[in-house]
Amino acid sequence: MDIVVLVSGRGSNLRAIVEAIDEGRCAARIVGVVSDRRSAPALQFAEERHIPTRVVHPREHSPREAWDAALAEAVGAWGAELVVLAGFMRIVGPAMIAAFPWRIVNVHPALLPSFPGSDGPAQAIAAGVRISGCTVHLVDAGVDTGPILAQAAVPVRGDDTVESLHRRIQRQEHRLLPSVVDAIARGWMRLGASPTVAPAHEPSDGSTGFVSPPFV
Ligand code: GRF
Repeated sequence: MDIVVLVSGRGSNLRAIVEAIDEGRCAARIVGVVSDRRSAPALQFAEERHIPTRVVHPREHSPREAWDAALAEAVGAWGAELVVLAGFMRIVGPAMIAAFPWRIVNVHPALLPSFPGSDGPAQAIAAGVRISGCTVHLVDAGVDTGPILAQAAVPVRGDDTVESLHRRIQRQEHRLLPSVVDAIARGWMRLGASPTVAPAHEPSDGSTGFVSPPFV
């Protein structure tokens, strides 16, 4: 399955997908990487791996609707079946959602519906929860509100900082996101307003299927 990955930052999730593809754990092909930031290290990584890249900078496409339309056009040009937001720090708009209905996946560093928005790990620490984690979900018109596809849990330790918790969550993201993309590519997971998972691939004990075991 051809996918396009959208990035804004470091790109550790992009790397995890590329690694999983290289190792035969993810039945996808990255046909393009798009960023809203020219200086994103993720973009440099994609270039090093000879993956086609595009930058769709908000400053060059204003107002917001024009940026959204330019993004939909850039992503659509590669003819991909799935769009993966891997640390893409902007909210995609109606043009993107209309171009890829239930075909945009996001990874979020908290157990949604708790702690949506840009600072999931900080919100978890401030709330004093003892378990947090990551969520892979479909993107709808809201902020981190779309149907949940998979989650992985991590403990929150008493001496955690936002950074140490985020690092622990990211280790799970790097397992979960490529696994979900793989499950979608193989047709195990069907996308829509109420996504379903083929019963044979539904995790039974938390250690099989595409959902990673908790507390790793
Ligand atoms: C991840 O923690 C993801 O959950 C959030 O942004 C971060 C991106 O990290 N949406 P990276 O750029 O993939 O390293």
